[in-house]
Amino acid sequence: MRILVTGGAGYIGTHTVLQLLTEGHDVQVIDNLCNSEREGLRRVEELAGRSVALHTDDLLKPDSLERIFASWDPEAVIHFAGLKAVGQSVAEPLKYYQNNVAGTLNLLDVMERHDVRILVFSSSATVYGDATHQPIAEDQRLSATNPYGRTKLHVERMLDDLAASDPRWAIAKLRYFNPVGAHASGRIGEDPQGVPNNLLPVIAQVAVGHRERVKVFGGDYPTPDGTGVRDFIHVVDLSSGHLAALDYLVDNGGLHAWNLGTGQGSSVLEVIESFSRIADRDIPYEIVERRTGDVAVSYADPTAARREIGWKSERGLEQMVADTWNWQSQNPIGYKPEQCPAIEDEG
Ligand code: NAD
Ligand code: UD1
Repeated sequence: MRILVTGGAGYIGTHTVLQLLTEGHDVQVIDNLCNSEREGLRRVEELAGRSVALHTDDLLKPDSLERIFASWDPEAVIHFAGLKAVGQSVAEPLKYYQNNVAGTLNLLDVMERHDVRILVFSSSATVYGDATHQPIAEDQRLSATNPYGRTKLHVERMLDDLAASDPRWAIAKLRYFNPVGAHASGRIGEDPQGVPNNLLPVIAQVAVGHRERVKVFGGDYPTPDGTGVRDFIHVVDLSSGHLAALDYLVDNGGLHAWNLGTGQGSSVLEVIESFSRIADRDIPYEIVERRTGDVAVSYADPTAARREIGWKSERGLEQMVADTWNWQSQNPIGYKPEQCPAIEDEG
């Protein structure tokens, strides 16, 4: 198929583009590179032995979208492009509504006008808010605790309305749990710009000596070791979920929400210990106050994806940590071409 991937230069996008190319699809990417480097896609081309056209354009510019659809005529869209930093979304909510909601609206509008009605959308487990039951199934009540989460909820509702208005739409809302890890080659991986917020990039930066220690947010949660529990999922498994969802949509159509998680929870301390073992070095950490907005436990019930699209995760925590370490140790400053000074710990 001809597949347009928005945000295809980013972390999950690069891994998915690589799988699409490997499976023989034709891929074009639209990405404004606001949170990624061109180098990621260059390495994808190298790994796939195939090229991918990158349009360095913005979803907020409808003319750019129109030009791509008019000239290339994609058959389906995988929509990753969005801003994803929870803290920044609290400080700059309008930027998040503009980029994530208005950007998606522009995309849907051009898709409808060009009769392209197959869409895979990056939603997030954040749409479950502080879920009352674990594991979390797709039919749990949705809510959001921050502007980032609300942008995902708004887009999900827009997609619900669109599908209800016209049965020709085929839409998958993929709710990711905690994506981590990297491609086995160590050539592509997560390259956070500035100070990372998520656990694995923080641990990886401590392991390579760019940060002094991991601050563990809370040691008094009602969990076996007192630290938060999450459903970490390998980014390569996550990417496979997009191909499975796309296949399903092409054959069956309809509107669907699927959790992409492993169904297993791991605690913050378990992850630090696993990293320390695999990288064979001490990972200093200290337990500090809980982070505002964090929940104690979050893990998926992934059975719907298994039953309906035949997808399940295959890689366990050890593999996720090993691949993160392989990527980080080969690329201590990510894709950046020049040596950067050590990243300051914020205190
Ligand atoms: P990422 O930041 O690495 O990739 C997103 C890409 O979109 C970036 O390359 C960025 O430059 C691009 N982009 C952003 N706004 C754009 C715009 N207006 N026009 C064109 N390009 C734009 O993030 P990721 O981790 O790969 O996440 C991909 C998607 O998955 C996002 O929508 C994110 O909210 C969602 N998600 C991510 C996680 C996670 O932990 N990584 C979890 C749940 C959901
Ligand atoms: C966060 C976002 C969520 C987003 C997801 C993926 C919040 C509140 N939620 O989820 O909306 O979809 O990232 O991008 O930000 N931790 C530490 N020390 C650190 C970093 C994290 O102890 O330096 C702990 C956290 O308290 C949590 C666990 O590690 O218990 C995972 O944190 P993180 O990787 O940030 O993901 P989430 O909070 O689950």
